[in-house]
Amino acid sequence: MKRIGVLASGEGTNLQAIVDAAGRGEIAGRVVLVLSDNEEAGALDKARKAGIKALYINSSDFENREKYDRALVRALEGEKVELVVLAGFMRKLSPVMVNSFPNRILNIHPSLLPAFPGLDGAKQALHYGVKVTGCTVHFVDEGLDSGPVIMQESVPVLQVDTLKTLQQRIHAAEYRNYPRAIDLFCRGMLKIKGRRCEISEQQ
Ligand code: GRF
Repeated sequence: MKRIGVLASGEGTNLQAIVDAAGRGEIAGRVVLVLSDNEEAGALDKARKAGIKALYINSSDFENREKYDRALVRALEGEKVELVVLAGFMRKLSPVMVNSFPNRILNIHPSLLPAFPGLDGAKQALHYGVKVTGCTVHFVDEGLDSGPVIMQESVPVLQVDTLKTLQQRIHAAEYRNYPRAIDLFCRGMLKIKGRRCEISEQQ
């Protein structure tokens, strides 16, 4: 069972989907720590309700991004975390974090990357007028939403969509894909070859 640390700034609905999937035995790992840069994050409440250690680390207590990330790394290492999962974490990671967990940090992004990276992926897609968007689970490197892609699911953009309805459809896809990708990682089934991530055959 891999020890998973989750970083989240917001509501934490992806965190909940991961915790629920792990509880059903669908992930070969368990969430042992949740960290947030937002004291009000729903993710902290959801973690505590599930009996998971949850800490708020205030970025204004640190001089710069590197020092903040060092505090994150210390907390994660303190819990012997083997996989870091970003679930709506609204800060860009510095090399301090990325180099401490090389190829061991995953992120979910609400678009079909490389389209619409950065903030508000769903809003960008709606404004651009694409007919199809979706979600992407990927490894995190030092770039912005640029690491090797593990899994993607497309969702249609309907003529009647508002941002809310589109976001709901993307979220539903996220809750299906993120736990599956995390499980594949935990079972050692993901192999990175250059920009490509290969999924090994089921054993
Ligand atoms: C998700 O849409 C995810 O794609 C993005 O941030 C959002 C987090 O939502 N990275 P939640 O906190 O999991 O509800």
